[in-house]
Amino acid sequence: MFRCIECGGEAAELAGDCRCVGCRDLQEWILPAEGANPAALRERWQARRAAPAGDDDRSGVWRFRELLPPCADVVSLSEGNTPLYDLPRMASRLGIARLLAKHQGMNPTGSFKDTGMTVAVSQARAAGFTWLACASTGNTSASMAAYAARAGLRSLVLVPRGQIACGKLAQAIDYGALTCQMDTDFDGCVRALAEVVTRVPLYLVNSVNPFRIEGQKTAAVEMIDQMGWRAPDHVVVPGGNLGNSSAIGKGLVELHARGLIDRLPKLSVVQAEGANPLARWLRGGRQGDLESVVAKTAATAIQIGNPASWKKAARVLDATGGACVEVSESEIERAKAEIGGEGIGCEPASAAALAGARKLIASGFIGREEAAVLLLTGHVLKDPEYTLQRREGELLDVAGADAIVRAMETNHGPRF
Ligand code: F0G
Repeated sequence: MFRCIECGGEAAELAGDCRCVGCRDLQEWILPAEGANPAALRERWQARRAAPAGDDDRSGVWRFRELLPPCADVVSLSEGNTPLYDLPRMASRLGIARLLAKHQGMNPTGSFKDTGMTVAVSQARAAGFTWLACASTGNTSASMAAYAARAGLRSLVLVPRGQIACGKLAQAIDYGALTCQMDTDFDGCVRALAEVVTRVPLYLVNSVNPFRIEGQKTAAVEMIDQMGWRAPDHVVVPGGNLGNSSAIGKGLVELHARGLIDRLPKLSVVQAEGANPLARWLRGGRQGDLESVVAKTAATAIQIGNPASWKKAARVLDATGGACVEVSESEIERAKAEIGGEGIGCEPASAAALAGARKLIASGFIGREEAAVLLLTGHVLKDPEYTLQRREGELLDVAGADAIVRAMETNHGPRF
């Protein structure tokens, strides 16, 4: 069952635009109240880890199917089961007790989108759709294209020309999506798609689709599972269209309500300064509706000026006591190099999480004795141009052994 987040109107099925038929606001899937006791659930989820390869039970999403909308016929690419890295050096540099990174870029198409896409595409196929569609800053389109191909369905991608990283664009084409670029921004692509949806039967898989949110919330469940069911004090997530922060927050709130964790971590959202509509709305005292901005950031994944899920995100900030911070382009650049320097790597939008955590530590919002988990949302190989454009000087031209040895003697490691 779906419930509108604004008017509370309930619906058994999703409309084509995924919005409430009464007030046009977003809906969310309601997790039924009954459920197994926490110990029994944890045991069942643990047992599923040992399922044979290819079994849906082994998916890091479907392993937690008790928290998901029921689905008989799953479209899966073995998503989830992503690493949670401990970062002790970085924690001591930042001056907190513990810092971890949940790397959702280690999903099959290299971003967190896969965890939501497996749920949405499974539902689309069950409902008999032949076309899936999204507007995207790149990762949603790569993920949709892959899951559509896996399901034997067609997919339509709308992306802003010149504003998405080339790895992502190549993926959409490789997986066989009908890939269209437009001379507009992400928000313009969303508007164009809204019109297309009224003309032809398309299944919309942007994060306004509540099934996406349900799948993405399992990253929170998996993270807590990996921490032995001891919740961290903070979870820090980069925000663009604000679907993922809404999803992680929903997951945490549900775990807490079901007694699977005994305290609720604070969920904080990090926006780029040039794409900061939520931060502005909060700073401005939450007056009226969020005002869109013309977004500009080199972290193209989060270059979004009119985030669809802002109300959901604001609610999870309130429910968990989290904060919203903005970070500059140079702070993102530095954080990206630091994560690279840990041997982990991520795309620029993900690095915003570290840049934001640093600010939250400096302001005292994250305490010195606390533990924080960063959500790294995309793989380092998604956007290699970002690094090459900024760190070209670190690429040395050498003619032979003499120069190589000299370089080794004078080089003191990466800049950060
Ligand atoms: N990080 C990455 C790598 C992303 O691709 C996105 C969003 C976000 C963070 C922000 O997540 O939108 O749920 O707040 N990418 C979308 C896309 C918009 O089309 O791929 P969000």
